[in-house]
Amino acid sequence: MASKSKSFQIAPSMLASDLSSLGEEIKQLEKAGIEVLHFDIMDGQFVPNITFGFPVLESLRKKTKLIFDAHLMIADADRYLEDFKKAGCDWLSVHIEACPHIHRTLQQIKKLGMKAGVAINPGTSLEQLNGVLDFADFILIMSVNPGFGGQSFIENSFERVKELKNRIGNRKVKIQIDGGIKKENIREAVVSGCDILVMGTGFFSFKDYKTAVAELTKQVTR
Ligand code: DX5
Ligand code: ZN
Repeated sequence: MASKSKSFQIAPSMLASDLSSLGEEIKQLEKAGIEVLHFDIMDGQFVPNITFGFPVLESLRKKTKLIFDAHLMIADADRYLEDFKKAGCDWLSVHIEACPHIHRTLQQIKKLGMKAGVAINPGTSLEQLNGVLDFADFILIMSVNPGFGGQSFIENSFERVKELKNRIGNRKVKIQIDGGIKKENIREAVVSGCDILVMGTGFFSFKDYKTAVAELTKQVTR
């Protein structure tokens, strides 16, 4: 998906899909041209909700070659990095608020052969990222507080994306945004500097996924 000057990826957040038929959902997403699937991993400790575990990822891994992007909202992520690799993840993002040894964690993720992302909550200063920009493959700007799908977009998030883009400078670090992205604000997200758009309800509320991709792409490239 690319416009004249900007390219971007839509990463549907599987939490908002029909969880009773995940395999079929993924087949339809593949047909619609989606490349990345976003899995929200929650542990009931770092965030007040519990979602997918390893057996779910493993069984889906057998069904598709799409990129598995796991967003870890868990305490003590270091304990599980290898398990996420074994379960078939390609990208792993960890929260800066949950990882006291973030630099080591990123190195470990890369050593395991995955792309390493750092997620940052709406209330955390971007200055906290200064020490990791040379080591992360992508930064995940949370535009809602993590824990649930379907929340309202927090308005200063695009300002934060712009500030982050300045901080990144000419490094090859991508920007992912997650929370409350929909048809009405996807264009501003891309213009602000987002490369990867995680979308839950804003994607799955379309009647079918080919229409979703076409409509959303039209918003950005118009
Ligand atoms: C929130 C999750 C998001 C969420 C996005 O903790 O990280 O990925 O599922 O859902 P929407 O797009 O509905 O805000
Ligand atoms: Zn997420």
